[in-house]
Amino acid sequence: MAKINSNYNKLKTNYLFSDIARKISEYKLAFPEKEIIRMGIGDVTLPLVQPVVDALVKASTEMGNKATFRGYGDEQGYAFLQEVIKEYYEENCKVRLSTNEIFISDGAKSDIANFTELFSNDNTIIIPDPVYPVYLDSNLMFGRKILFINGNEENGFLPLPDKNTKGDIVYLCSPNNPTGAVYNYAELQTWVEFALNNNMIIFFDSAYEAFVSDKGLPRSIYEIEGANKCAVEFCSLSKTAGFTGTRCGYTIVPEDIIIDDNYSLNKMWLRRQTTKFNGTSYIVQRGAEAVFSKEGIAACKENIKYYMNNAKIIAKTLEESNVWFTGGINSPYIWLKCGMDSWEFFDLLLKKAQIVGTPGSGFGKCGEGFFRLTSFNTRENTVEAMRRFKEFLREL
Ligand code: MLT
Repeated sequence: MAKINSNYNKLKTNYLFSDIARKISEYKLAFPEKEIIRMGIGDVTLPLVQPVVDALVKASTEMGNKATFRGYGDEQGYAFLQEVIKEYYEENCKVRLSTNEIFISDGAKSDIANFTELFSNDNTIIIPDPVYPVYLDSNLMFGRKILFINGNEENGFLPLPDKNTKGDIVYLCSPNNPTGAVYNYAELQTWVEFALNNNMIIFFDSAYEAFVSDKGLPRSIYEIEGANKCAVEFCSLSKTAGFTGTRCGYTIVPEDIIIDDNYSLNKMWLRRQTTKFNGTSYIVQRGAEAVFSKEGIAACKENIKYYMNNAKIIAKTLEESNVWFTGGINSPYIWLKCGMDSWEFFDLLLKKAQIVGTPGSGFGKCGEGFFRLTSFNTRENTVEAMRRFKEFLREL
């Protein structure tokens, strides 16, 4: 008889955002006349920028033409895209990569979850709490031991290692999902030194790097000396360029990471990808290439500016209502103190103001009492949501 992976019993019944989607559907069914404003899952609302659309159209046309049609591409991505990502790193962060270290993916989520396959199930995984639920769930699926490190108001939701931080792999996300907090250079240096001194690997999720406007903050872990020996970086175009539905990301696996004097993570990941992944589509990779063109970068920056103005509107409302919050400056997420059970707050906010957010406890036990709003909706909806939110708080 087939034996199932009983580690799945350790997971919550549903993935966080599936639970929220179900609650929205139920509410819509009961109150079809109510206008819901979604500030829950970080899904973008602005369309793809014109240089990307042009590149997608051109690549689609090529695929319909006998002379320019392409079949399978390299699993790790086309050189044309690896090259422009390499340049992006050099220009933005003064980080030099080799194209062999850049693996094109269909988004950060799948690579973050799949990369753990390269490691034995005996490893202890260090996970900051609160955090993007994929880190925890994908390791629970393998039955791995988890050590949580607590984020809270005192440490600004940016935990640092101490003598009790004993594990083999640590996940860091900066700018952070869900709190919007950003590690500075000194803090990341502390993590890198700790990893090097304790033979640990860092999985660094930089999906929100494009939202960092403060020049004094790092956008890539490779800006920190020594990180090329201990850190793998996962990035995505979902939020940078509105690719949530188009799907493209990239993972940096430095050639300098050698484990047990023998195992190259880079070679292992290549082996894994060539076996289990057939690459991101040619058309999408051409679209992604256009994100990194001069025009593409400028247009994406405009979109990010639009979202960050929404974040300002949310922040202003919270300040005026005397609500404690973090994020919203170098990040599209705003993490506010709701002061009650966060699912209860979710239900009340939906029922009374028809606003959807994300309950903090969905990101871990330290998220209890907090709530996440995103700035990815339209300007009109954000303004309307904040009008309703103020009224909601007054009546609470
Ligand atoms: C979020 O809302 O946390 C993200 O959009 C989820 C994701 O990127 O998968």
